[in-house]
Amino acid sequence: MTKLVIPGKQSLRGNIKISGSKNAAVAVLAASLISGKKVCVDNLPDITDVRTLLEILQYMGATVRRRGRNTVEICTANVKKTHAPPYELVKKLRASSYFMGSLLARYGKAEVPVPGGCELGPRPIDQHIKGFTALGAETEVEHGLVKLYASNLQGAHIYMDVISVGATINLMLAACTAEGRTVLENVAKEPEVVDVANFLNAMGASIRGAGTDIIRVDGVDRFHNATHSIIPDRIEAGTFLLGAAATGGEVCLREVIPQHLDAAMAKLKEAGVEVCDSEDTIWVNGNAETLPVDIKTFPYPGFPTDLQPMIMVLLTRAHGTSVITENIFEGRFNHVDELKRMGANIKVEGRTAVIDGGSTLSGAPVNATDLRAGAALLLAGLTAEGETVLSGVEHVYRGYEYLEEKISQLGISFKWHRENGKKQIKGLGNQ
Ligand code: EPU
Repeated sequence: MTKLVIPGKQSLRGNIKISGSKNAAVAVLAASLISGKKVCVDNLPDITDVRTLLEILQYMGATVRRRGRNTVEICTANVKKTHAPPYELVKKLRASSYFMGSLLARYGKAEVPVPGGCELGPRPIDQHIKGFTALGAETEVEHGLVKLYASNLQGAHIYMDVISVGATINLMLAACTAEGRTVLENVAKEPEVVDVANFLNAMGASIRGAGTDIIRVDGVDRFHNATHSIIPDRIEAGTFLLGAAATGGEVCLREVIPQHLDAAMAKLKEAGVEVCDSEDTIWVNGNAETLPVDIKTFPYPGFPTDLQPMIMVLLTRAHGTSVITENIFEGRFNHVDELKRMGANIKVEGRTAVIDGGSTLSGAPVNATDLRAGAALLLAGLTAEGETVLSGVEHVYRGYEYLEEKISQLGISFKWHRENGKKQIKGLGNQ
């Protein structure tokens, strides 16, 4: 079991470059399969989820060549399989469901293991299935597989009952080769959706309106080679912004798109944190007293659910009561019990968490059950008095590139440790 030993009472100070977006990258990789051509993807984060996706592509017959740490060339000409790999590999990441859309677009046929629930609660795919059916696909679930078949995908007008990033991307993928025009209404407007649309267009697709409520896709039957650079990861950027604020530090983020973090920056300012941004940098100073604020998570451009655990850590130091309402995932309060074990005063009722701030956290052994909970507990450990031992760190590596290097650039060094033959990371504190 990998563990991270986090030194307490540290503040993040320095400047770092933000990596490519995990959630855009995983969708772009699955989308690359549609064209049957060669693509070169740059600014690809070197994280576990991306490595798993590349493994899946190779399993399916694609040729993958790395050109440096953050660039890959993928040729999908020889992909013949219409089924994604076994559940054991696919279950590692939710994004493997994008193979439903990309295989359907390319072959009119797909067999992909049904994604199970996860640490965040139930993860239904009813909107994906509703859309595929509207495009003319027959769907059935058998032996744990979603089976999709369409002799001829036809453009359709689809209204999404729930705003879903995954369903929006999957239906954009499938609609790329459908005959005629598809209109997708009430879609997700996340920057990752726009990035995938730009990538698909670079390969020859015809998609307009990504980033608004309505996306129009005109089906095409020819694609070409393409190059694409993944957008910066707004959630990684938000994690470091909130980390600087929570630890009373000062951080400058380079190569970000500040507009993608408007909601997070607005809430930081409301909480009394100094933040300013220019073309592609954001600077934050968390020296001032933190004020309590209320947060409601919403689809983009609302406050992102993926930053909810981290802002909760900041609010434990605010003098006063803050209320967080989690509107996206019902199971996204996994970090609360662990924060309480560190001395935080938080009450959860349903989708609402009430945080009575002002108490100093104390280091404790804590466990990360998912990626963002892990990032939040790491930040909590840095603010606490005494050492925190974080287990479940593998979740954090799913989504944060060069974690130790970046933390070290912000003044805190980690060293790898082995205990009972197992790897441990020991933080040495600000140096
Ligand atoms: N939903 C349905 N039916 C569907 C699809 C979704 O009811 O068919 C519901 C979900 O249960 C949820 C809401 O719609 O309540 C939003 O889910 P969405 O489909 O937007 O989430 P996702 O596509 O599964 C992506 C990110 C998540 C991020 C969410 C919300 C990827 C690979 N994952 O998930 O990222 O939290 O959008 O922004 O892009 C993370 O990075 O840590 C992470 C969990």
